Amino acid sequence: NINKVNDALDRPLRDLRISVIDRCNFRCQYCMPAEIFNESFKFLPKSELLSYEEIERVSKIFASLGVEKLRITGGEPLLRKNLPHLIRNLSKIEGIHDIGLTTNGVFLKRYAVELKEAGLHRVNVSLDSMNDDLFKQINGRNVGTGPVIEGILAARDAGLGVKVNMVVKKGLNESEILPMARFCKEEGLQLRYIEFMDVGHTNGWKMDHVVTKKEILEMLSSEFQLEPADPDYYGEVAKRYRYKGTDTQVGFITSVSESFCGSCTRARISAKGEIYTCLFNGNGHDIKALLRSDLDDNEVTEQIASIWNHRRDRYSDERAEGKNKGQDKIEMSYIGG
Ligand code: GTP
Ligand code: 5AD
Ligand code: SF4
Ligand code: SF4
Repeated sequence: NINKVNDALDRPLRDLRISVIDRCNFRCQYCMPAEIFNESFKFLPKSELLSYEEIERVSKIFASLGVEKLRITGGEPLLRKNLPHLIRNLSKIEGIHDIGLTTNGVFLKRYAVELKEAGLHRVNVSLDSMNDDLFKQINGRNVGTGPVIEGILAARDAGLGVKVNMVVKKGLNESEILPMARFCKEEGLQLRYIEFMDVGHTNGWKMDHVVTKKEILEMLSSEFQLEPADPDYYGEVAKRYRYKGTDTQVGFITSVSESFCGSCTRARISAKGEIYTCLFNGNGHDIKALLRSDLDDNEVTEQIASIWNHRRDRYSDERAEGKNKGQDKIEMSYIGG
């Protein structure tokens, strides 16, 4: 009973990214700058977040429209109470064969085994520096790399797939490009370098801040021999390379220098319970209102199918074409990347 839908540019719906909370224990400058996300910042009350029952219901509906892959994001998703309970129920949904979690890793040491047992397949852990002082500066909360590295290793030991995400910002952490590569190669972990993106309005993005895949690849080539690897799945976000003579890979997420909207199969649900058809499209569709109305599953399914049918987003392609100036965008902490 799967009723696949394509969007207006003929892209299928395959992935759903669900932000389960807008809070985070970190204040990364490029995501939740401490000056803005301070004591007087109003985070969402629990009643404004989708409940686990609502997330399960909407995930089933998305699965019936072709979604095969779920990713749980935040803020920091492990700040949401009893997350393994949600994962356990999501993993029972017919058609879903991949569930991932994007996290800063601090709480993984505590939850990795429980998450694995609940049916989580993979974690993507953000780590922007190997250097303690710089990492403390980046996360704005004086947390060293230790807890994150312990979290990464705990996840791997628990049998979860692990990728490490490093956002590279010029003038901030280019010096960490090689140290991060050495660490991840040594540990056999897939590292992905992420080009700094213009998500939201609070991160002060400038083109000058971007370190491109080409620049990073040149730095890596001074020390490592790399060969291109084939994509894992249609529309994979990262372009990957293999360290010659090993099974270890390194990837690049090139939203700025080589955009990938043509194969974008991702829908997103914000912490507030809105559907976004692009990371950079500020026009959310209030799914929470639909779920809390007296519409039945068929009616909600129809509405979601129609939202996807009308989708024409290709923000990063347009950025490359110099076309997108000044539109409304949602903040990273509500949409989870
Ligand atoms: P995998 O399932 O492991 O391939 O995960 P992923 O790379 O899709 O997800 P993750 O949460 O680890 O995101 C890594 C980076 O890719 C983040 O900076 C995201 O914001 C970015 N990203 C993911 N999907 C998209 C997308 O559709 N468009 C853009 N521009 N960036 C994306
Ligand atoms: N550009 C690129 N990646 C970002 N992330 C957060 N903000 C940005 C940005 N402006 C990353 C996080 C995490 C993932 C979900 O998105 O570091 O790895
Ligand atoms: Fe938190 Fe991740 Fe945003 Fe940093 S990038 S503030 S860890 S949600
Ligand atoms: Fe998809 Fe929007 Fe990212 Fe393009 S910019 S890949 S349309 S989410």
